[in-house]
Amino acid sequence: MYTVQAISEAQLLRLEDLREKVNVALRTLIQREVNKGAGEVAKLSGEILLSGGKRLRPLLGIFCYEVAGGKDIDEIMDLALAFEMIHTATLIHDDINDAAKLRRGVTTLHERIGQPKAIIAGDWLFVQGYGLSGRYTKECIDLIREACANIAVSEFKQLDHVLDLSTSPEDYLDIVRGKTAGPFAAVCESAAIIAGASPEQSQALGRFGMELGIAFQLMDDLLDLRGDERMGKPRGKDVLEGKMTLPLIHSLTLLHGERRRHLAAILNNFNDGLWDELMGLLETSDSIMYAESLMLTHLERAIHELDKFPSSMAKSLLMQVAENVHTRHD
Ligand code: IPE
Ligand code: IPE
Ligand code: MG
Ligand code: MG
Ligand code: MG
Repeated sequence: MYTVQAISEAQLLRLEDLREKVNVALRTLIQREVNKGAGEVAKLSGEILLSGGKRLRPLLGIFCYEVAGGKDIDEIMDLALAFEMIHTATLIHDDINDAAKLRRGVTTLHERIGQPKAIIAGDWLFVQGYGLSGRYTKECIDLIREACANIAVSEFKQLDHVLDLSTSPEDYLDIVRGKTAGPFAAVCESAAIIAGASPEQSQALGRFGMELGIAFQLMDDLLDLRGDERMGKPRGKDVLEGKMTLPLIHSLTLLHGERRRHLAAILNNFNDGLWDELMGLLETSDSIMYAESLMLTHLERAIHELDKFPSSMAKSLLMQVAENVHTRHD
């Protein structure tokens, strides 16, 4: 079992300072595009971009860059912004597909301006973000392109598995690697490459990102089941959508007879009145606990990848980010 020390005052300040630096840079970028005449599309995309968000991907990029020996934050800033913009673009598109009404505590873009403009706003953010990666080497651009393309591949797979009660844990992990963990891995590995790290070090940080990303999506799926008003998005969207998350897959595998039939019926005709019955069945099969322990395993694997790197503020902050995946509510 891994242990992470409580966050120190200095670490907290550094974290807040960098988050603010990212926010300022994003705001400046949007303002520049508005000034250049991008108008409504830049303003509306900017609103979602700047309405909150944990800024996890930029922070991971910056800390991995430093852990890998990078000294000049300005060198990594465009990568950090690129990943946040691409991420926000995927959120706008994801919310259309998931018919979500709330994101980062505010009404989703498609709810406010309609689907056609929301799709285009997502495209705008995506292309602006991807464009920012153009200053880096081909190796980095290839990593980013592959991660972005894999999001699409995995979202297709996820759609093909909607309400497919025979979905396996391997199918689930394959989808999670593509849609969430792949971009985490890409930001960590490319940040290390930009810092001039060896292939071994860059790949270790890539694996750190992949393991962390898997844990992150497992936690996101658990939070969706449990519900927490601090999330800035409503509870239970996944079940309503027919998304086969790990607790459901696990429970469907373990239960048999009448209980399994009952669970299948609940999933096929889910509504808000069925929450208690659903959670009761997941409890019977210990499926929440199973998903939680798998999440911890992936977090341990992520932290283990950092063993090879000397102690530093950035390394401690990466461990804090990992710890926060476990304890987060949003
Ligand atoms: C949400 O990502 C989408 C998932 C991969 C689960 P975040 O939870 O990082 O969203 P923000 O950026 O903080 O809003
Ligand atoms: C993450 O999955 C999707 C993306 C990679 C954009 P979710 O569909 O679970 O994300 P949330 O829960 O809506 O943030
Ligand atoms: Mg969603
Ligand atoms: Mg989704
Ligand atoms: Mg989710």
